[in-house]
Amino acid sequence: MDTRLSSRLQIIILCVCCTECSTDISCRNEAGEPVDWFIIYKLPRYKIGEVGSGVDYMYLDSSVGSWQMSKYMVNTSQGAIGNTLKQLYTGQAYKSNSSVYALYNDGPPILDYIKGYGHTKGVLLFDHSQGFWLSHSIPHFPSFPERGYLYPSSGKVNGQTALCMTYDYDQFLSIAKHMVYLYPRFYNCSVPAAFTLDLSQLAQLCEGSKPRLASDRNVEHLSSIKGEQFVSFAKSEHFVDAELTPSMAILQTSTRGGWLRLWVPTCWWSPGRDQFTSCPPTAPCRNTS
Ligand SMILES: *[C@@H]1O[C@H](CO)[C@@H](O)[C@H](O)[C@H]1NC(C)=O
Ligand SMILES: *[C@@H]1O[C@H](CO)[C@@H](O)[C@H](O)[C@H]1NC(C)=O
Ligand SMILES: *[C@@H]1O[C@H](CO)[C@@H](O)[C@H](O)[C@H]1NC(C)=O
Repeated sequence: MDTRLSSRLQIIILCVCCTECSTDISCRNEAGEPVDWFIIYKLPRYKIGEVGSGVDYMYLDSSVGSWQMSKYMVNTSQGAIGNTLKQLYTGQAYKSNSSVYALYNDGPPILDYIKGYGHTKGVLLFDHSQGFWLSHSIPHFPSFPERGYLYPSSGKVNGQTALCMTYDYDQFLSIAKHMVYLYPRFYNCSVPAAFTLDLSQLAQLCEGSKPRLASDRNVEHLSSIKGEQFVSFAKSEHFVDAELTPSMAILQTSTRGGWLRLWVPTCWWSPGRDQFTSCPPTAPCRNTS
């Protein structure tokens, strides 16, 4: 090959590599573009008077004004969850020693259920600059990084929620401490050496040990990269009863913790049932107490 052509090729390859390297780890919208946060509500298969596909979902993010029906199905890697996880899967960030990741689920894919972990599910992926926290309710999801995007059939029947938030690195230090309270089951993770000083508790969780707790509850106020406020709590029952008022909107829930979106009072806490009502965005929300 002519040396000029080969050096031009090298420059092109270098440029492609640079744009990939400089792309910040972030939640991704339905079109694959970075977004501050998004919420997905996967519709249940059975609705009043009709049987749905079980894979259709509604979508809301920081730039769209209201809930939209997605044109994608949740069991394909198109759409916001797939686009976000692509950074882990096809970007092979799971092989990198310059980023941290953790997949956690009390009911992980393939592996057997083990008692004692927090009833909580999600994904963390970040580097020294920023990253995303995807908190969701889908059983046996997501798949191991080597396997790529797979949506389990067990996640089709019921309604499911997913909340993705983009945070700066410093917020992940708080999130890591909060993880100790949630005590998630990390079924696949990596905390490279360059992070272990900052994130010793996360490294412990990743190794399968349980760090000591200072108390039985924790509330973490987090600020997304664009300054949106999120509150995550890890609870004891009484603590939750006392602390939450019906004017707070509930996004996502588990028996171990949950999410509040404080600035849109649309859904209510259901004290009698000792759980939050995860509100279908299609239905007007009302007090269920
Ligand atoms: C997604 O789920 C629908 C409904 O169950 C099914 O018809 C379709 O083949 C699935 N697609 C993939 C890629 O799994
Ligand atoms: C990180 O990975 C690169 C490439 O795989 C390797 O050359 C480097 O030594 C690694 N650094 C550490 C601290 O492990
Ligand atoms: C899980 O993660 C580790 C470290 O990132 C990786 O080496 C391993 O192959 C992964 N997969 C499984 C199935 O454990």
